Amino acid sequence: MDLNLSEEHVMIREAARDFARREIIPVAEQYDRSGEFPMEIIQKMGEMGFMGIEVPEEYGGAGMDTIAYVLAMEEIAKADVATSTVMSVNNSLYCHGILHFGTEEQKRTWVTPVASGAEIGAYALTEPMSGSDAGTMRTRAELSADGSHYVINGRKSWITSGPVAHRLVLFAKTDPEAVPKHRGITAFLIDTSRPGFVRGKIEPKLGIRASATCEILFENYRCPVENVLGEPGQGFKIAMTVLDAGRIGIAAQALGVAEAAYEASVQYARERVAFGQPIGTFQMIQQKIADMKTRIEASRLLTYQAALAKMASRETGERYTTAAAMAKLFASETAMFVTHQAVQIHGGMGYSKELPIERYFRDAKITEIYEGTSEIQRIVIARNELGLR
Ligand code: CAA
Repeated sequence: MDLNLSEEHVMIREAARDFARREIIPVAEQYDRSGEFPMEIIQKMGEMGFMGIEVPEEYGGAGMDTIAYVLAMEEIAKADVATSTVMSVNNSLYCHGILHFGTEEQKRTWVTPVASGAEIGAYALTEPMSGSDAGTMRTRAELSADGSHYVINGRKSWITSGPVAHRLVLFAKTDPEAVPKHRGITAFLIDTSRPGFVRGKIEPKLGIRASATCEILFENYRCPVENVLGEPGQGFKIAMTVLDAGRIGIAAQALGVAEAAYEASVQYARERVAFGQPIGTFQMIQQKIADMKTRIEASRLLTYQAALAKMASRETGERYTTAAAMAKLFASETAMFVTHQAVQIHGGMGYSKELPIERYFRDAKITEIYEGTSEIQRIVIARNELGLR
């Protein structure tokens, strides 16, 4: 595939690579160990324009395209998946939906502070009993008698950046009787400093430990009607449209961590000597290297193809759902495969916290789960191919 990278693309990739080397790699292990949110790094990433790469400059972003986003995401994730998760949620899950469905006023007020990195955004869809089957959510938003605001009650879970978010896009049921059920869901713009917004328990996680995740409770939270995003009842479509964009970012993230694990493995296979020769001369190691490299390159092509499809959709209006799902599915399973092989190639050192290999392995796993599990991606791809609903 001829990506024909522009000077601007090469520039952002170099800027992200350089930033990752200077600011992230030296401290990634420390943040993973402590589980502390890397606020200082995120603020600097905001200054670099990484928190709203595709957001037009008039709304505080860098005004670049999806290829630029993917290139930058890959470099940041290569250094640390946790940091790239915060970047991904800000860019896609938060900003994309408001840019796509928001009014001019909403874009100015709600996108600008988050795209510029001054504030942090989040996306609240999942609930304790509603994960893959997102349409079954129970969080309820009821219109007040005078029609001026919605009163929101309920519990959201697994909210990435929830503990630190200033603003979020929330999905709640406004019509529990709607048939089909997803048509009773509405999207809201939530200011987390208002009364009734309560942060719940923090999730202790296997990987991406520095990306903060928590439950969010809504206790009679009053959301002004002007903060409805899109039309009432359009929430599920907004959620799905946003996830199409988000899944491309996760594919790029998976690609980044796979590359990090692969490069470390090649170096180790060249240097580590066993039975009198570098282990890279053994065919069993060579097979692993060949499979890792091939899957990484295939992931890259699918990810870039999905990015191009998203860019084309601006002109054609066509959905890029399948391209995004295939990229996310293949790249995340590749990340898991590659990091697993990397631990094996490194042997005991791959299992030790002295090297980042075990962190790559733990971090890679989430890419097969969030923003739609691998099983959901397969359903999405197959249903679209078969013309089923
Ligand atoms: N774009 C726009 N609209 C879409 C769409 C898309 N990609 N996919 C579906 N829709 C629309 C359909 O056209 C349909 O619209 P109508 O009102 O016209 O009928 C409607 O949505 C319902 O579609 P389905 O009947 O296909 O819906 P479903 O209930 O069968 O669910 C699903 C489909 C693909 C399984 C979906 O529920 C799904 O993607 N689930 C996974 C949810 C997910 O990814 N969760 C991750 C949470 S976010 C996260 O991880 C948090 C984080 O912080 C990182």
